[in-house]
Amino acid sequence: MILRDALRVLIANWDGSYTVPSRTLYPHQWSWDSAFIAIGHARWSPRRARTELLSLFGAQWEDGRVPHIVFNPAVPDAAYFPGPEFWATRSPSGYATSGIVQPPVHAMAAWRAHLAEPDHGFLARIYPRLVAQQEFLRTQRRGIDGLISIVHPWESGMDNSPCWDLPLNAVEPMPDGVCRRDLAHISPAERPTDRDYERYIALARAYRDTGYRGTCAFQVEDPLFNTAYGMAEHTLAEIAAVLGHDPAPHRAEAERITAAMVDHLYQDGLFHPRDAITGCLIRSGSAAGLTPLILPGLPRDVANALIGTGLDLFGLKDGVLPSFAPAAPEFDPVRYWRGPSWINLAWLVWQGLKDRRPDLAAILADGMISAVTTSGFHEYFDPFTLRGHGSGDFSWSAALVVDVIAEHGLKGVPLTARELGQQAGARGEADHIGDHVPA
Ligand code: SER
Repeated sequence: MILRDALRVLIANWDGSYTVPSRTLYPHQWSWDSAFIAIGHARWSPRRARTELLSLFGAQWEDGRVPHIVFNPAVPDAAYFPGPEFWATRSPSGYATSGIVQPPVHAMAAWRAHLAEPDHGFLARIYPRLVAQQEFLRTQRRGIDGLISIVHPWESGMDNSPCWDLPLNAVEPMPDGVCRRDLAHISPAERPTDRDYERYIALARAYRDTGYRGTCAFQVEDPLFNTAYGMAEHTLAEIAAVLGHDPAPHRAEAERITAAMVDHLYQDGLFHPRDAITGCLIRSGSAAGLTPLILPGLPRDVANALIGTGLDLFGLKDGVLPSFAPAAPEFDPVRYWRGPSWINLAWLVWQGLKDRRPDLAAILADGMISAVTTSGFHEYFDPFTLRGHGSGDFSWSAALVVDVIAEHGLKGVPLTARELGQQAGARGEADHIGDHVPA
């Protein structure tokens, strides 16, 4: 039942060559959403997974950046703010896009699509694009010891995490021209505040006015973003080996970034963001600080300390991972990234625990399944009551739970792809993805 419902969400949110995160709140293509969604597609329709990723990379810029939103011209302007008019830019292929990026989790998704259904042609097509995405970050967003910095909270994907409160305070709010559409769908108690939006818009506008190349009043080295970058290099090494390219430079870069993260972002059992402008570590209680567990080269003592923090601060044994430490004064169980449980964050930590602590990984897998079984495929969940918040029928909640069920199973029994397809009753749909062929 839960699988059938998950596939119903993914099919309903499919737009011919990609999946919208939500029909109401996010009616275009989002970058890291597409990657997480492709990870779920890989389990039941690898063709959809390939199409999703190629469609996103079809809007890649010449400098290698993958924009965080690719706008659908058929969607009315009033449906989302800030829309194409605000960003005022286009990809070389002619798509209106935003000018900022999101965590580069796409190589992981591409590799999973390939493992599900080996396709040399797909890998050969996506590899240079993934390399260019990394190259943009490495050259244009270089921070201390080669750590990658982000220039907007939206680039972290965790928009109003309490981690950004301090660096955002340095940004002058700009009420003019803020026209929120999100509140037409979601209660203000579950979204960023107006003051947050005034700062988001001020920052985005300032960056836009530099031609999306200049320096910003917000520059942060974020653990999750850098973990994604490092994991992308690990995965590119695997892809390079299949394609007959040299994997060694990717492995070296993955090791380098892991070491830089341990040197500069790790303190007292957790990874923290670093304000690249002040040089100060933003000591915080974000569960994103646990995601470096997925890096294979993480020193064992650091990994063990992270697991200890996961148990003490984030209740890992309870199975439902809050996005922010419940004991912290900023914690809010229902407001966007200030405490609720998100499936993508839990999925990343699950990945990091599978080899290190299979017992805890299994508890986390059951927790993700239990959240969507209790409340449906919500965007986020109160970690104590499991009540769903934010958008309903949210694509990555559905996609990643499909992945979890495929591997961990329901009641602990993994499913084969065939059983998964049969249970979902969607094999026919899997192959009917429309005629659109991405550039
Ligand atoms: N997550 C942002 C929003 O809420 C933008 O990427 O619209």
